[in-house]
Amino acid sequence: MCGIVGYVGPRRAAPILLEGLKRLEYRGYDSAGIAVGQGSGVLASVRRVGKIRVLKEAVPKSLEGIWGIGHTRWATHGGVTEANTHPHFDCSGKIAVAHNGIIENYRALRGMLSKEGAVFTSETDTEVVPKLVAKYYEGDLEAAVKAALAHLEGTYGIAVIHADEPGRIVGARNGSPLIVGVGENEMFIGSDVMAFISSTSRVVYLNDGEVVSLDAASFKITDRADVQVDRKADAVTWELGEIEKDGYPCYMEKEIFEQPDSIGRALGGRLDRENATAKLGGLNLDRRFQRAVSRVSIIAAGTSWHASLVGAQLLESVARIPASAELSSELRYRNPVVEPASLWFAVSQSGETADTLYAMREIQRKGANVLGICNVVGSTIARESDGGVYVHSGPEIAVASTKAFTSQLAAFYLFTLHMARMRDMSRSEGERFLAALASVPDKVKETLGGRDRIQAIAKKYSRAGDFLFLGRGLLYPIALEGALKLKEISYIHAEGYAAGEIKHGPIALISGEVPSVFLVPHDPLREKVISNIREVKARGGPVIAVGIEGDEELAGLVDDFIPVPAMDWRFYPFTMVVPLQLFAYFCALELGRDVDQPRNLAKSVTVE
Ligand code: AGP
Repeated sequence: MCGIVGYVGPRRAAPILLEGLKRLEYRGYDSAGIAVGQGSGVLASVRRVGKIRVLKEAVPKSLEGIWGIGHTRWATHGGVTEANTHPHFDCSGKIAVAHNGIIENYRALRGMLSKEGAVFTSETDTEVVPKLVAKYYEGDLEAAVKAALAHLEGTYGIAVIHADEPGRIVGARNGSPLIVGVGENEMFIGSDVMAFISSTSRVVYLNDGEVVSLDAASFKITDRADVQVDRKADAVTWELGEIEKDGYPCYMEKEIFEQPDSIGRALGGRLDRENATAKLGGLNLDRRFQRAVSRVSIIAAGTSWHASLVGAQLLESVARIPASAELSSELRYRNPVVEPASLWFAVSQSGETADTLYAMREIQRKGANVLGICNVVGSTIARESDGGVYVHSGPEIAVASTKAFTSQLAAFYLFTLHMARMRDMSRSEGERFLAALASVPDKVKETLGGRDRIQAIAKKYSRAGDFLFLGRGLLYPIALEGALKLKEISYIHAEGYAAGEIKHGPIALISGEVPSVFLVPHDPLREKVISNIREVKARGGPVIAVGIEGDEELAGLVDDFIPVPAMDWRFYPFTMVVPLQLFAYFCALELGRDVDQPRNLAKSVTVE
């Protein structure tokens, strides 16, 4: 989704803004622009449709100015045109605004401002903001922004500059993240830390309803009641090296291959061998409440939802706690029953997904404890949840989530072990579960060794127009995830199904042109899945199977076989998802797609 960056300090702003925008590219965008103060009562602005490099080429190398704002736009209101690209301006051209979110009452405001003589040059909802700021401006930008905000309904993270107030940026947040970066005699503002991580790792998170006014030396935050807030800077732990490609051709490949390490980090320090359980420091829950939990409900979107589906099955089958995972976009609008002894999880890599955040707030309003499973430290869901687990995947930059998924799984396996050991799981069973969990990074590493075989299979099938991904039990969510990965980055149509469901409809799709990818572990459902494969083969459908090393029967039955190492069957979600990630990746490469920034997608979906 859209990204904001702002800079004020002793250096030339334009190159810093362009670098910040480049680092925000991963969020997904279709156009970008900057506005830079010139110190003589004018703002210089350049906006372009397309990639940041197009904008960079258009920005004059000599562009002076030591403060400014920049924006990457992901179109919501109005087409992808230069006129709709941010920053947007008031009629004098002196006030510039970069905005993330949606101003819901923009039509009414536009009507009001037009009657007062404002001339609009874009179709965006954003353009009402600079016009409103201009209406109230009397020499104090912060006061004018606050007056303008009183009219806005909807969500926003905004950064505003005025040509007549050199060295000042005013920001405001309501529902869209905004973070201040504190440097040495320079300040930054951004929609996420990526915007300025190469310059500073000291950050100040804004809360909803807050306004910040910053210059090179200081920042001042005020809350909804206009009371000044004293807030110290936090340190961001991500290193610059973690957000470089590190010799890989793209972030997605790097992130897939990082998984042995990222899963290791998610497990790090949390395996309590002495007590055959897991230690999760951030749960913030009374032990008696944990013991009394009678239901676990999980909310999430996309890939995080798929990890949650695995987590729910696991909690139910291993810890014997009734559990379910639901799409946050659905739950939010259906007035769910929140039982007193229920425990909720909000799962989100970015910690900023609007659907999940709003659903979480609704559940909290009803009095339940909501724990977060997040990757981005300091993200809104992480800060607003009642406790939780950081998955420590490190920055995930490719739009398609891979390493965050396996780390989310790790968090659920740890939590399941912890809850099961508080209930009926014996010490010896706890030891077995723990040992299998500890072996996951190595098993994933071994699975990654199948890269070349998977690439060859992807090459063979990448021209197919439709795919089915099929699995049962814990591997049904992995089938959904495999299909999502393929759709997202290769644009090939794919459906994930519970393998037992195919004869209830999807089998009608089977033909020589529609390959099926089956997940076939050695688990209690193996024979059932083998029968499903026979049904597909009988109808002429090509079959690729991800199965267990040495499974000759399976290898002989299918057209292409991808082996993963044998392990405790409950842990196959970790290894079986890896070939599907690689398969999607290599199909996308074959088709010449933009793997890291697939069309129409955004890394963190901060609007509904
Ligand atoms: C995953 O590949 C997707 N890009 C998407 O489905 C994502 O998982 C979803 O938007 C949820 O994001 P979150 O984990 O940051 O909340």
